[in-house]
Amino acid sequence: MAKLGVNIDHVATVRQARRTDEPDPVWAAMDAELGGADGITFHLREDRRHIQDRDARLLKETVAVKLNMEMAIAEPIVRFAAELRPDQCTLVPEKRAELTTEGGLNVVKFSRRIKSVVRRLQARDIVVSAFIEPEEAQIRAVAECGCEAIELWTGGFAHARQERSRLRALEQLERSIALGSELGLTVHAGHGLTYRNIQPVAELPGLDEFNIGHSIVARALLVGMREAVSQMKNLLLQFSPWE
Ligand code: PXP
Repeated sequence: MAKLGVNIDHVATVRQARRTDEPDPVWAAMDAELGGADGITFHLREDRRHIQDRDARLLKETVAVKLNMEMAIAEPIVRFAAELRPDQCTLVPEKRAELTTEGGLNVVKFSRRIKSVVRRLQARDIVVSAFIEPEEAQIRAVAECGCEAIELWTGGFAHARQERSRLRALEQLERSIALGSELGLTVHAGHGLTYRNIQPVAELPGLDEFNIGHSIVARALLVGMREAVSQMKNLLLQFSPWE
């Protein structure tokens, strides 16, 4: 069964709305663990709009499950990650104006820089994944850069308005999972996944981990983090194949 990584950035977004000390994403991470999260994911953005350095350090000290740090390939962030040593770093693109990460990293274009980042992080015993769109050239480039994993952007599937384009996006994900696995990569998936749309993606064989943020935190506002995580985990238990 695929593992559930819970992205807690939105909890920090609420706190930063008032620059206060609540809600604390570190508490949220603890509650997510109690609800059955297999991993905690956070994105330390260059503009520090939600997660702060202090959060990253406390998460590193307190999270007992897998800690996954999403990050740009900019030098100050790479230095921070190498010092922090989370279990996994997921390389993502970052634009100041975006609401959230929009689409995957262009690994083909930035392969030289990415290779050097991967080497530095791996030297600190960090597993490196890259968040990419489900395209053959990008998947091959990630493998060539020496990453252990890919996270496939599921936005194409999640944002599809018509059944035809949804099916096309699913097939693209299926092909990408097969190619990634063939190249020896562990395959993760994330972006735009919700309680309502997770089933067909969860049913795809070969996925090791889902990273889900918005939908879980949104539900947590109404039912609490522990319950929200537990509900998503139950969907994975129901739909994700045991491999
Ligand atoms: N995976 C990556 C690499 C992301 O950047 C994000 C968004 O921060 C997610 C997963 C989670 O996406 P969502 O918040 O839409 O569930």
